[in-house]
Amino acid sequence: MLNFEFKNPTKIIFGKETIAKISSEIPKDAKVLMLYGGGSIKSNGIYEQVKNALVNFEVIEFGGIPANPEYAVLIKALEIIKSEKITYLLAVGGGSVIDGTKFLSSAALYEGENPWDIVSKFIRTEIGMPFGCVLTMPATGSEMNSGAVITRAETQEKYGMGGPGLFPQFSILDPQVIQSIPPHQIANGIMDAFSHVLEQYMTFPTQAFLQDRFCESIMQTLIQVAPTVIENPFNHEAASNYMWSCTMALNGLIQKGVPTDWAIHAIGHELTALFGIDHARTLAIIAPSHYRYNFEAKKKKLAQFAERVFGIQEGTTEEKANAGIIKMEEFIHSLNIKTRLSEYTPNFEGTAEKISDRFIKRNWLTLGEHKNLAPSDVEKIVKMSY
Ligand code: NZQ
Ligand code: ZN
Repeated sequence: MLNFEFKNPTKIIFGKETIAKISSEIPKDAKVLMLYGGGSIKSNGIYEQVKNALVNFEVIEFGGIPANPEYAVLIKALEIIKSEKITYLLAVGGGSVIDGTKFLSSAALYEGENPWDIVSKFIRTEIGMPFGCVLTMPATGSEMNSGAVITRAETQEKYGMGGPGLFPQFSILDPQVIQSIPPHQIANGIMDAFSHVLEQYMTFPTQAFLQDRFCESIMQTLIQVAPTVIENPFNHEAASNYMWSCTMALNGLIQKGVPTDWAIHAIGHELTALFGIDHARTLAIIAPSHYRYNFEAKKKKLAQFAERVFGIQEGTTEEKANAGIIKMEEFIHSLNIKTRLSEYTPNFEGTAEKISDRFIKRNWLTLGEHKNLAPSDVEKIVKMSY
């Protein structure tokens, strides 16, 4: 196991009817900007619950943050934060609204001239404006981590940002919110969380027995609840386990003391930036090719994954590893998610070269847990996924 430090200051408030508790988490004298997305909260009752909880607070609202939070929209919210002297942010939404709020938390206190620098120059946020979250869509884990991913449509860019100043102060996780999520979005959430575990697990053995078993148990739980939660989001046990698994998949715990990969996400973000494909689906496109391309380096963990997550006991390491990739693909297909780029866009030709050129221009020359994946490897992986 590698050395590590672990601190996660986010308070989780989990369970039925917990949204009302925001009133005891936000300072009484705060001037609050409540941020939300395209309007789902107005038709599923979440908006009313939040407004009722905030009845004794001074609150301004900002809606319309789109999926893949857009810089141009966020800049409008930043103007309100400054002109209205906002002191506290409340994100009510999924990963996109929470990530957008994290950008605003950072930008609100940023002293540089151009807030885009925070994103494009990967400026770490040590202190941000305090914020809390009401999670409406389990998927990203953003509700309990300090990272965000921001999109700029103008330049077709999508980059990660973060820093210790960007943990939410609290996050409300009421599993009942998933009742209104369309099945394809729930499938996205399961796929995203499953990939988060894979990115922190599918590397090489490091004798981190506990971390491996954390990862395997999260993946097994997601596989267990997936059919129920997609079929019947009113099933409270399935909804609760789905929601908590998504949070646990990316709150920092399982990455401690182990190498991590994240190449699938780095490549996937380009597919969202270029084609607008849902984040989770970009991961489904890249993951199988990535594991086939890096088979030698990852085969021990692939075989362990096949054995422990899918119960495959027969065969050599290579045979088990191959079976693990096939089982993973079958699981993705069972979510009704397609795994080839050509199934999402007719304009896939040239994508591999475009992504590899972008990585060269950005000097992203060493991806993966061994830092040995060059843009030319990325090009091959993307081509394999056509
Ligand atoms: O905008 P509204 O109308 O609210 O609709 C949203 C949106 O269209 C809808 N939705 C959310 N909660 C709902 C609901 N519909 C009905 N009922 C509810 N309760 O779902 C749609 C998708 O929402 P979004 O927030 O975009 O989804 P998700 O949580 O998957 O977030 C995706 C974004 O997070 C980033 C992704 O790149 C992407 O930009 N990620 C953030 C990470 C992080 N901060 O740690 C890590 C991830 O790997 C990921 O990159
Ligand atoms: Zn993700």
